[in-house]
Amino acid sequence: MLRRLYHDQPESFAFTPANQAWAEAQIKKYPEGRQQSAIIPLLWRAQEQEGWLTRPAIEGVAEMLGMAYIRVLEVATFYFMFQLQPVGSVAHVQVCGTLSCMICGAEDLIGVCKEKIADKAHEVSADGKFSWEEVECLGSCSNAPMVQIGKDYYEDLTSEKFAWILDELAAGRAPTPGPQNGRYAAEPLGGLTSLGEFDSGKTKYNASAQLASDIGDTVKRIDGTEVPLITPWVKSEKVAAKAAAPKAKAGAKRKAAPKSGEKATVAAKKPRTMKSPRKAGADDLKMIKGVGPKLEKLLNTLGFYHFDQIAKWSAKELSWADDNIEGFKGRASRDNWVEQARKLVSGQETEFSIRVFDGDV
Ligand code: FES
Repeated sequence: MLRRLYHDQPESFAFTPANQAWAEAQIKKYPEGRQQSAIIPLLWRAQEQEGWLTRPAIEGVAEMLGMAYIRVLEVATFYFMFQLQPVGSVAHVQVCGTLSCMICGAEDLIGVCKEKIADKAHEVSADGKFSWEEVECLGSCSNAPMVQIGKDYYEDLTSEKFAWILDELAAGRAPTPGPQNGRYAAEPLGGLTSLGEFDSGKTKYNASAQLASDIGDTVKRIDGTEVPLITPWVKSEKVAAKAAAPKAKAGAKRKAAPKSGEKATVAAKKPRTMKSPRKAGADDLKMIKGVGPKLEKLLNTLGFYHFDQIAKWSAKELSWADDNIEGFKGRASRDNWVEQARKLVSGQETEFSIRVFDGDV
């Protein structure tokens, strides 16, 4: 397939302010002289914002990274996931046409695309809302046939179900991603035959579908104001400002929490707890050094789900945590959870969160 720039290009491109801040943060991840390494994340964010990769966007990214336009164009034209022509205003649908999906009905799904969207791949539908293409294996073969719509996978499809999903999206709704035939994940159709006692974690959907459903940005054009659950320390300005506000207020009234290694000798007071995490989902408390999966579960059971809850603990509340987290006495002070949580809330990285992100932990 010929990969070239679309004949009709917009006049200009600019990241939204929040996306600009995000892009600058990505560039800072790399050592001096290696800023070009941020090329794919920046091009990807430009596409997430606009739906497709325009020439002004490619040139804008080249300028941000101090690269020749042709070098960025080479990357944009090399990778098929970069859309070089306009896509539907609601969604661009990617139908897997590789072996498992083809055997299980991918051709029927492509038939639906031809009927409901456009006769040819990469053409935008008459109402401008959708476009589609056939792609190679998306790695969800045990749930064939499947499609990727926006960010999410819709699996175990029939042509009727797929048509319904497109109708829902056209009406402004995003159906829950994941298996569409009642399966939880990729277990046998007749139910589990082994590991029957496996605890799914009690989420309503499997981990991928649950996260997609919690984030809720399946076909949203990304403007940078979304809560970045995947990299919680890279917070948008809005989220960081909101998080910083109660911290400053609390700091005026409360005595500072003891520093790492200091023994809390003050009277204990139970911190405020929550019945359940906020709608966007619980923070990954394992980003706090000293908190593993078991302790995170215990903290959730006690009503602690978010960094900002821990960041607000006073010395008395820290003392309560030290005494009352069964099996982990003194851990909160010893590992300085409050200071770590405050950093994570304000959008900073901790030494430990960097290691978690890099997969070293
Ligand atoms: S063959 Fe379709 S996801 Fe692998």
